[in-house]
Amino acid sequence: MRRSKGFSNGLTNYGDADFSLYLRRSFARSMGLSSSLLAKPIVGIAATGSGFNNCHRAMPELVEAVSRGVLAAGALPRVFPTISLGEVFLNPTSMMYRNLMAMDTEEMISAQPMDAVVLIGGCDKTVPAQLMAAASAGVPAVQLVTGPMSTGRHRGERLGACTDCRRFWGKYRAKEIEKEEIDLIEGRLATTAGTCAVMGTASTMACVSEVLGMSLPGSAAIPAVHADRLVAAEMSGKTAVELIEKPIKPDEIITQKSVENAFRLIMALSGSTNALVHLNAIAGRLGIVMTPERLNEISDETPVLVDLKPVGTGYMEDFYAAGGVGAVLREIKHLLHLDTKDVTGVKLGDRLAEPIEWVGRDIIRPVNNPVSPVGGLVALRGNIAPDSAIFKRAAATEELFEVTGRAVVFDGLEDLSNRIDDPALDVKADDILVLKNAGPVAAGMPEAGYLPIPKKLSEAGVKDMVRISDARMSGTAFGTIVLHIAPEVAVGGPFSAVENGDLIKLSIAEKTIELLVDETEMQRRLNEIKNSITEPGGLDAPYRRGYKALYRRSVLQAPLGCDFDFLRG
Ligand code: FES
Repeated sequence: MRRSKGFSNGLTNYGDADFSLYLRRSFARSMGLSSSLLAKPIVGIAATGSGFNNCHRAMPELVEAVSRGVLAAGALPRVFPTISLGEVFLNPTSMMYRNLMAMDTEEMISAQPMDAVVLIGGCDKTVPAQLMAAASAGVPAVQLVTGPMSTGRHRGERLGACTDCRRFWGKYRAKEIEKEEIDLIEGRLATTAGTCAVMGTASTMACVSEVLGMSLPGSAAIPAVHADRLVAAEMSGKTAVELIEKPIKPDEIITQKSVENAFRLIMALSGSTNALVHLNAIAGRLGIVMTPERLNEISDETPVLVDLKPVGTGYMEDFYAAGGVGAVLREIKHLLHLDTKDVTGVKLGDRLAEPIEWVGRDIIRPVNNPVSPVGGLVALRGNIAPDSAIFKRAAATEELFEVTGRAVVFDGLEDLSNRIDDPALDVKADDILVLKNAGPVAAGMPEAGYLPIPKKLSEAGVKDMVRISDARMSGTAFGTIVLHIAPEVAVGGPFSAVENGDLIKLSIAEKTIELLVDETEMQRRLNEIKNSITEPGGLDAPYRRGYKALYRRSVLQAPLGCDFDFLRG
C-alpha cells in the first residue's frame, strides 16, 4: 500500500480540493520542480541555521547531505526554516524560547505537506524543542544533531567550550591570570562549528536522542567537522524516506521504557542537569511521567562510566573516538529495557548484540571499574523543595555533601549581581548562598544557579560553596549546587520563606534539603509573603504582552519540564 501523500497532504482550504492541489502543484512548479519530482513522497527538513547560532554554523552542508540522502532514496526533500536558539545570544534566557521553538516546529510539521521529517538541531534548547515537536506532531521523524565542536589550543593545553570558559574566567576573577591572557583565550575556546565540546546540555541531549531511538545509532557524538557527520546526515535523509513506507511514529519510539533508558544513560554519562528538565518535557508530551523517586532508583543503580568534562577530563571528540553512546550502552545493557526500537526499526537489544570494534577505556570505563558507582544526578526533597530539587553529585565537592550552613540570601538576579562582590557582604566559606526568584515564572529559569563565589572569598582561595536556587545551571558548569527548587518562589513555593541568617541542612545521603526553621514560623512567613503579593508571577511589565505573556500564564515547574500546560499530552 502506498502511504505517501506528497503534495496532496493537508490541502489549503479553498472549498475545492482538486483546485487546491492544482494550485499547489502549479506554485511548486515555480520552484523549478519537474512534474515527476512533484509526484514523489516528501521529506521535510527543518533547518535551523542562524547568524545568532554559532553551534549551527555547518547547517548548509548538513541540509545538503540530508537532501542527498532523501533524493537518492527516491523522495523529494523540502527544506523549511524554523526559529533557532543560540544559547548565548538570547535575552533573558534561551529557556524561555524553547517552547516557542517547539510550537513553531510542531505547527510547521503539521501544517505543511510532508510524509516524514528530518529535524536538524544542536545547541542546548533546539534538540529538546524539536523532539517535543516531533512527539506532538505525530509524523515520522528523524533527529539529526549538528555534533560537538573540536577542541582549541592555548599554550600547549587543550581548550573546549564551555567548561574551560568558566575555568579561565574563575582564574581571572581570582587574579591568577592577567587581562591580556584572558583576551587571548577568548579566541581559543570555541574554534570550530558545532556544539559545546564537553558533556554539557547539548551533548547530553544528543545522546538522549540516540538512546530514545530518534537519531541514528552511533550518530550522537560524531564531531561537527568530521566527514562521518555528513554521512550520518545522508543516512538520516534515507531513513526518513524508509519511514514513509514503513512508518514508525515518534510515540512508538518515545515510550516509558525508552525514556527510562534515557534517564539511565544520563546517569552513566554524568550528563547535564538541564537534560532532566528537557527529557521530562519530551516525555510529558506523550503522557509519560518520571517521579523523583524513580529518578533516584535509576541513579543509585547506574554507575558513572564516562570520564568527560565538566566532571572529568576528556572532550566529546575523545568520546566519539572511544566508542560513543553504543559503547556505554553495552556496559549498562543489563540495566536497560532492550525491547525499545529506533527510527530504523531495530530493537535496542539487537543493536547491542552486534560486536563493537574497540572501546577507549580511558574515556569509557567498564562497569566493574566505574568513575563513580552511582549516577551523576540525584533528586532532593525537603520543606523548601516539596516537589523536588536536583543536585549534580558528580560535579560537587564530597566534603560538602552533609552540611548545615547559614543562608546568605539574594532576592533575585539583580540583587545577586549588585552585592555578590561587595567587600562588605557578610559571607564566609561555610555559608550557603541562596538565590531566589530565578525560576521558570520569575525569570525564565536562567542558568544562574552557578552563583559565582564572592570575590573576597575566591581571592582567598575558596573554590566551592553550597549554592541553592530555583534556577538552572549550565551543563558545562560544576560545583556543590542545588537547582530547580520546586515550586519556585514566584508561585509561592516554601523556598520563599528562607531568610538571611537561617540555617539550611543539606544531606545527599538522605536526599534532603531542609530549612531549619520551625513549622509555625515558616507558615507565618509564607502567609505574610502571600498577603503581600498583589498579582501572580514575578516577570516584569514587558512580559505582559505577546509570547512572554503566554509564557508567563502557561509555563509549568521544572519537574514537569517547564512545558506549557496546554502542550502536555
Ligand atoms: Fe550551543 Fe553550548 S552554546 S551548545
